[in-house]
Amino acid sequence: MGKRRGTSAEDVASRETASATSASGGFEGRTILVGVTGGIACYKVATLVSRLAQRGAQVRVLMTEAATKFVGPLTFQALSGGHVATSIWEAEDRPDAQHIAYARSAGLMIIAPATADILAKIAAGICDDVVSLVACALPQTTPLLLAPAMNQQMWENPITQRNIQTLRELRGCHQVGPESGWQACRTSGAGRMSEPEAILAAAEKLLGIAG
Ligand SMILES: Cc1cc2nc3c(=O)[nH]c(=O)nc-3n(C[C@H](O)[C@H](O)[C@H](O)COP(=O)(O)O)c2cc1C
Repeated sequence: MGKRRGTSAEDVASRETASATSASGGFEGRTILVGVTGGIACYKVATLVSRLAQRGAQVRVLMTEAATKFVGPLTFQALSGGHVATSIWEAEDRPDAQHIAYARSAGLMIIAPATADILAKIAAGICDDVVSLVACALPQTTPLLLAPAMNQQMWENPITQRNIQTLRELRGCHQVGPESGWQACRTSGAGRMSEPEAILAAAEKLLGIAG
């Protein structure tokens, strides 16, 4: 009979260490921007940021004000080992404006979860929060990967569908998910954010990294 998976803190820590060891490498020398927007799935993005850091990426996290209602910036600061930007007005000690410096530094930008709101804003060219502003300033040659997450009605709303189509067609955005399944609104349907491992796999594919 197989050994039962333990649930003590030591067992969990040892599994994290094993996962970190087996997941190491691939993203060295790459700067990945992770834009976090205000949905329930924010908590899953902590795992994504941790996995990217374990794989050698320099991860820079940007959060909308709504995202900070779901997960505190401190969580992402600890997992990424870097400053978390939550405002467009933060000064950085460099000649470029903060958003230009972020945009220029990136090999890839991931927005996860991507709310209906952020899809609408980026598709309309609105830049009044740090995630939409950096996404707008991102060079066209830098891939932008969206992981939408929302209630099924919001996802199936023709305006949301038009916005995602605009982002794909005009900006060449890449999309992972959403999946169908259990949602925070306690029903099953389309709109559930892809799991962190699926987002990581999509990022690897875009950057030509062997998984
Ligand atoms: C409890 C709660 C959960 C929410 N979950 C989502 C969600 O999963 N997806 C979504 O698009 N909006 C969701 N919203 C609405 C967004 O938080 C809201 O539209 C907000 O303005 C998004 O701001 P942002 O795009 O700047 O982060 C939720 C709101 C609340 C109060």
